[in-house]
Amino acid sequence: MSQVSPTSDIAISLKGVTKIFGSDPERALDMLRRGVGKTEVQAETGNVVGLDDVSLAIERGQIFVVMGLSGSGKSTLIRHVNRLIEPTSGEIIVGGDNVLEMDDAALRKFRQTRIAMVFQKFALMPHRSVIENVAYGLEIRGVRREERLERAAKWIEIVGLKGYEKTRPRQLSGGQQQRVGLARALAMDTDIVLMDEAFSALDPLIRAGMQEQLLELQQSLNKTILFITHDFDEALKIGNRIAVLKDGAVQQVAHPEEIVLRPANAHIEEFVRDVNKARAIHVGTIMERGAFEACELAVPAGARCEDVLPLFADHRWVGVTGESGEQIGRLSATQVIKALARYSAAPPAAAVVTEAA
Ligand SMILES: Nc1ncnc2c1ncn2[C@@H]1O[C@H](COP(=O)(O)OP(=O)(O)OP(=O)(O)O)[C@@H](O)[C@H]1O
Ligand SMILES: [Mg+2]
Repeated sequence: MSQVSPTSDIAISLKGVTKIFGSDPERALDMLRRGVGKTEVQAETGNVVGLDDVSLAIERGQIFVVMGLSGSGKSTLIRHVNRLIEPTSGEIIVGGDNVLEMDDAALRKFRQTRIAMVFQKFALMPHRSVIENVAYGLEIRGVRREERLERAAKWIEIVGLKGYEKTRPRQLSGGQQQRVGLARALAMDTDIVLMDEAFSALDPLIRAGMQEQLLELQQSLNKTILFITHDFDEALKIGNRIAVLKDGAVQQVAHPEEIVLRPANAHIEEFVRDVNKARAIHVGTIMERGAFEACELAVPAGARCEDVLPLFADHRWVGVTGESGEQIGRLSATQVIKALARYSAAPPAAAVVTEAA
C-alpha cells in the first residue's frame, strides 16, 4: 500500500527538491547535504531552509494531503508545483512536463490551463461581483464572455451560492467567500487543483461542510488535488495519502490509516496521539475475518469505523464485504470499541472503573 503505481499514473512528481531562502543558497545547500539541520544552517549562514530534499509522487485522481506545523514548508512546497517559487535544486514534473524547463509563454499557458489554485485568504477581487470573480480565470484564458459567465454560473450553483452572482465578496461571509474561491478554481476545469490551507480560516462547522462538499465533488470530478493543512483530523478525513513535513523535510508518506497505526517517528506520534482513531481506521483492518452467516447489513472493507458505529444502534452484527461484494467478515460494536481502545496510545488515566456489584 505504501508503493505508488507506475509513473504513467503520476500527476505531480517532485524529485529531490530543496529550497533555500537567502543570499548564499549554495553554502547552505552544501551544509544540508552534509547532514547539518535547518536550525544550524540558519544560525550559521542566515539562510532559511524552505524545503529539504523533498521527493513525492502524487497519483492522478488522488487527494494528496501535505500536513505539517506552521513553518514546516507546506506553502513553499505547493508553490513549487506551479513554479511560483523556483527550487534551489531538484526536479518538478507535472503531467509529464518538466515545469522548470518551461519558458515564460509555456509557463503562463500551463498556469492558465492545467492547474488551478485555491488560496487560504480567498484572494478575491473586491470590485468584481461573485460571478466575475469565478469567471476571471476563464477571462484570462480568453474564453468569450457569454461562455465564461455560463460556466461560472454553473459552478456558483454547485457550491451552493445561487442567487449571489451579482454580490460583492465583502458582502459574503468567510465560508461563502471560500466557496467563491473553490468555484473559481473548479471553473478552470483543470485536472490539477492546488489548495493551500483552503479551509483553515473557516469556523469548524462551515469547515466540516466544505470538507464534505469537496469529497462529494471529487467523486464525480476525479481530479488530482494537492491539499495543504496543519490539521491532522482534516488530513485524515479527506486524504487518500498524506505526507508529513517537518523543517522542510518529508517525515512519512502513507495512507492515513498507516500513519495512525504506524507513525514513522516521535514527531508524527505526537500528532497521532490526539486524533480521532475511528476516522482513520477501516473496518477491514479490525473485522473478524471468516465465512459467517450473511449479515442483514454490510459495508465495504474500506469503510471507516466512524461511519459504521451508528449502524450498531439497530444491528448486532455488520458484515464486511470484499472487492467483489462478497461478505469476507463481520463486526460487532464491542469489537470496534476494543480495537479503538487498543490503538489509543495512553490508557484513560482519569477514568474511574467501578465493578458492578
Ligand atoms: N520568501 C521567503 N523568504 C525567506 N524565508 C521564507 C520565505 N518564505 C518562506 N520562508 C521560510 O520557509 C519556511 C517554510 O515556510 P512556509 O511558508 O512554507 O511554511 P508553512 O508550512 O506554509 O507555514 P504556515 O502553516 O504558517 O503557513 C519558514 O521557515 C519560513 O520562514
Ligand atoms: Mg503556509
